[in-house]
Amino acid sequence: NQSATPGLFKASITAGPMNARLIEGIDTPMLGYNGGNPVIEVTEGDRVELDFTNDIPDEPTTIHWHGMPVPADQDGNPMDAVAPGGGRSYVFDLPSGSAAPYWFHPHPHEFTAEQVYRGLAGVFLVKPKADPIPAAYGDTVLLLTDIRLAADGTVTPNTPVDLMNGRIGDHVLTNGQRNPKIEVRAGERRRFRLINATNARFLCLAFENARMTVIGTDGGLLESPVAADEILLTPGERVEIVAAFDSPGPATLTTLEYDRGWMGPGKPDESRLALLTTSIAGDLAEPMPNLPRELRTIPALTNPAVTRRFVLSEEMGGGMEGVDHSSMPAAGMKFLINGASFDMNRIDTVSKVGQVELWEIVNDADMDHPFHIHGTQFQVIERELGGVVSQAPYPAWKDTVNVVPGETVRVLLRQELPGTRMYHCHILEHEKLGMMGIVDVQ
Ligand code: C2O
Ligand code: CU
Ligand code: CU
Repeated sequence: NQSATPGLFKASITAGPMNARLIEGIDTPMLGYNGGNPVIEVTEGDRVELDFTNDIPDEPTTIHWHGMPVPADQDGNPMDAVAPGGGRSYVFDLPSGSAAPYWFHPHPHEFTAEQVYRGLAGVFLVKPKADPIPAAYGDTVLLLTDIRLAADGTVTPNTPVDLMNGRIGDHVLTNGQRNPKIEVRAGERRRFRLINATNARFLCLAFENARMTVIGTDGGLLESPVAADEILLTPGERVEIVAAFDSPGPATLTTLEYDRGWMGPGKPDESRLALLTTSIAGDLAEPMPNLPRELRTIPALTNPAVTRRFVLSEEMGGGMEGVDHSSMPAAGMKFLINGASFDMNRIDTVSKVGQVELWEIVNDADMDHPFHIHGTQFQVIERELGGVVSQAPYPAWKDTVNVVPGETVRVLLRQELPGTRMYHCHILEHEKLGMMGIVDVQ
């Protein structure tokens, strides 16, 4: 349903119920966009017009364009909910330089976490006019989600442990399937775009029997490719890699153990999950072209006009102070930014269009929190942990950055469009329990 007018992309999206077959012979009632997890593909410079319908029974929803530079009133903010049975259009222009692997998901006040774990997520690829990555590598999107089911196939509700740590599903899915198989040829190189669309699962990724090179992050390509043995992809983040299948035999995209600070019982095993497995189907007819050494230039943000500080903390609810939370997880747990819990009717920070700002994100809590800002990409400048400051190894555009306990992460950003924007922890249960604020860009 793409329009024929050049530079104009028009489509309809409906959020509503769907059934998936995740357990043999049993239907799982879930939510989907157009009955699944669609991939929207446009080109930078395009105007996008999306006709949205909310078919979710009894619940408001929105579509939030995660990481994209869209006007604030088109960005699916919590206060702009679409009532059940209602609709609206989302219209925005994608400026040149905005090519990147984005994604979209609901963001209605109080319902974001539930609607995402019930299945609502989609991919939004903005392609550049001229792509430096060889076309022979293909372009394979891997949308990573997880889901937890009861024996009868239904999606179980959140428990207190989920509210504390974020919900971890017990089926990890790649494009809606468990460990899908793809065929590659010996010596082939493939481009993959990985999106962590789980509520709370930390994915420390490794590619057994293949060589990984990182070529891009949340906001698009790096300046130059960087070889990597493992990549931590926290909820909300994306990474683009090229995998080289030089060794004989199948390769597996898998996860490694990562300690993200679990509270209470039920720590899931997050390692050795197979996300994608290859089989070798013959040899290449001719060798693949090499990756260029220079992909693009990332202009550095400099000279911030202001410094803002955002302190992330966790607080036990009434009467819970000093209680061992292994026995009473999440009772009245609150997740705060600068001591405050989210209030949809409160502006926390006022900013200016076009102003470069230094944001210091301080994790004064006991677990990792992946911090996300709406409406723009930022550049991580440095990290400070235990008095040791380390500079970012290379420039990259990001919209979500993990902050470990005790750490301060410094980022530079510039909002180009006016309006109210959210910033929050992308563990969606933490967002639900208050770890979110509003900046009004004027
Ligand atoms: Cu991925 Cu507030 O969003
Ligand atoms: Cu977002
Ligand atoms: Cu968090």
